[in-house]
Amino acid sequence: MAEIEIRPYEPSDRAGVRDVCFLTGYMGEPVEFEWADAKSFSDIWVGWYIDNEPESAWVAADGVDVLGYLVGCRDTADGPNLAAIFVRSVFTRGLLLRPGTAPYLWRSVADVVRDRRLPPVAPDLARWPAHLHIDLLPAARGSGVGRRLISLWCATLRDAGVPGVHLGTLVENTGAVAFFEAMGFRPHGSPVAVPGGRTRDGGRLHALLMVKDL
Ligand SMILES: CC(C)(COP(=O)(O)OP(=O)(O)OC[C@H]1O[C@@H](n2cnc3c(N)ncnc32)[C@H](O)[C@@H]1OP(=O)(O)O)[C@@H](O)C(=O)NCCC(=O)NCCS
Repeated sequence: MAEIEIRPYEPSDRAGVRDVCFLTGYMGEPVEFEWADAKSFSDIWVGWYIDNEPESAWVAADGVDVLGYLVGCRDTADGPNLAAIFVRSVFTRGLLLRPGTAPYLWRSVADVVRDRRLPPVAPDLARWPAHLHIDLLPAARGSGVGRRLISLWCATLRDAGVPGVHLGTLVENTGAVAFFEAMGFRPHGSPVAVPGGRTRDGGRLHALLMVKDL
């Protein structure tokens, strides 16, 4: 396999980053089985970052294809309004009516009514103002690419005087949690059930915030 290069994001990487997002969206596996709309999924999870803060994005590439990315936001308070992006996507794409997304969304509505609680989306932003998303295709995993991407982002933030960084993951994504702990992140607060989120055998998925001091 060609050597994997890590470099700053370029506009020509846009489609590749969006594809990787959709192909890794279910804890590293393709998310299409429960969210069959690539445009909205990538708009929600990577769109804002590559279109509004591209200087905080890096890609892993083999010279031809994008194999992975880290997208970040230095100041979450001034960053993406995920709820607004989500709601806009749901209505402009007709997702409540489409067979590939409606079951997930209506299950989410039922969960919110039952749980009466939404997972927190961020910790204390004075201490951990920055955040990130990282995803690699299987071919790029397990050889230090993730470590290099996190190290780059943390070094960039330290140089800018940013005191801390956070991220959201899932308790059930045990490989990712182990990776982030190896990178110096620690769990923050209690996990909270994700509206609509299910394991393949029907169990609930739980959001976990993790933080790292810089
Ligand atoms: C999680 C992910 C970014 C890690 O990147 P990676 O390149 O595979 O990880 P690295 O090879 O850099 O590993 C760095 C360290 O993390 C640990 N680690 C990585 N993946 C692990 C796993 N699945 N289980 C346990 N530990 C793991 C290793 O111990 C490694 O430590 P070492 O350097 O001392 O050997 C990548 O596997 C991935 O994209 N997974 C699927 C998508 C995903 O879950 N993204 C996170 C969503 S919140």
